[in-house]
Amino acid sequence: MGILDVKDVTLQFGGVVALNHVTYEVKEGEIFSLIGPNGAGKTSMLNCISGLYRPSSGSISFKGQDITPIKPHKRVGLGIARAFQNIELFPHLTVLDNLMLGRHVRMKTGILSGGFYLGKAQREEVEHREKVESVIAFLEIENIRNTPVGTLSYGLQKRVEVGRALAMEPEILLLDEPMAGMNSEEKEDMARYILDIHEEMNTTIILIEHDMGVVMDLSDHIAVLDFGKLIAYGTPNEVQNNPKVIEAYLGEEHA
Ligand SMILES: Nc1ncnc2c1ncn2[C@@H]1O[C@H](COP(=O)(O)OP(=O)(O)OP(=O)(O)O)[C@@H](O)[C@H]1O
Ligand SMILES: [Mg+2]
Repeated sequence: MGILDVKDVTLQFGGVVALNHVTYEVKEGEIFSLIGPNGAGKTSMLNCISGLYRPSSGSISFKGQDITPIKPHKRVGLGIARAFQNIELFPHLTVLDNLMLGRHVRMKTGILSGGFYLGKAQREEVEHREKVESVIAFLEIENIRNTPVGTLSYGLQKRVEVGRALAMEPEILLLDEPMAGMNSEEKEDMARYILDIHEEMNTTIILIEHDMGVVMDLSDHIAVLDFGKLIAYGTPNEVQNNPKVIEAYLGEEHA
């Protein structure tokens, strides 16, 4: 049993079959990459894991628990957090406030009960703040903590987007193209942060990335989607030499 078990997941949008009977498992503590040509169903798969989409059929289990019917914010509470392909931060808020907002999803004391249990709420606030500060230090963004996110470079916004997910202390971190649109230096930095998150926080990582060099370097296992179907699964070496994978990518180049 993996930390995440995807069983026979199909996702349809009208006539479009975004995912077609997909089955695989993600092992605890690994870096697992989902790759495939544009429109293959990678983001749809991540949306099923984070709960944004409900599969038309099939199931997804997290640590043995069937989470298929569970709402997205509850999944965050269970330990599944994601960074979005399109950055989903509040541009007018500072880096710090964006990360604090992410944390509050996990806050157990509600705003209303705050009046009755002020001591508890204050303790939680201090805890949130400490965690967020540790993420800020980890991602080396101390100097921009009070800067509105919208004024930052694209590369830094991507880093903050990863930070927002990380601030939720996930057991599984879902990263949808965290390096898209970055220059090679920014990509190298992001690859290093991903490895550090994995090693220092023992976080299981599911990564969607188009840069094959990065994917081959970082991944323990890779699943390849093509037109919604899982066409290959294995180690970087196995996947790299799989004729079906080569064909899927050649098809894309020739399109
Ligand atoms: N909400 C939706 N409504 C209708 N169709 C959708 C929806 N989301 C995804 N699709 C379709 O599902 C298919 C898979 O899309 P998806 O975004 O998962 O691909 P992807 O592998 O992430 O592609 P990319 O590499 O371009 O990000 C596409 O045909 C897409 O148009
Ligand atoms: Mg996508």
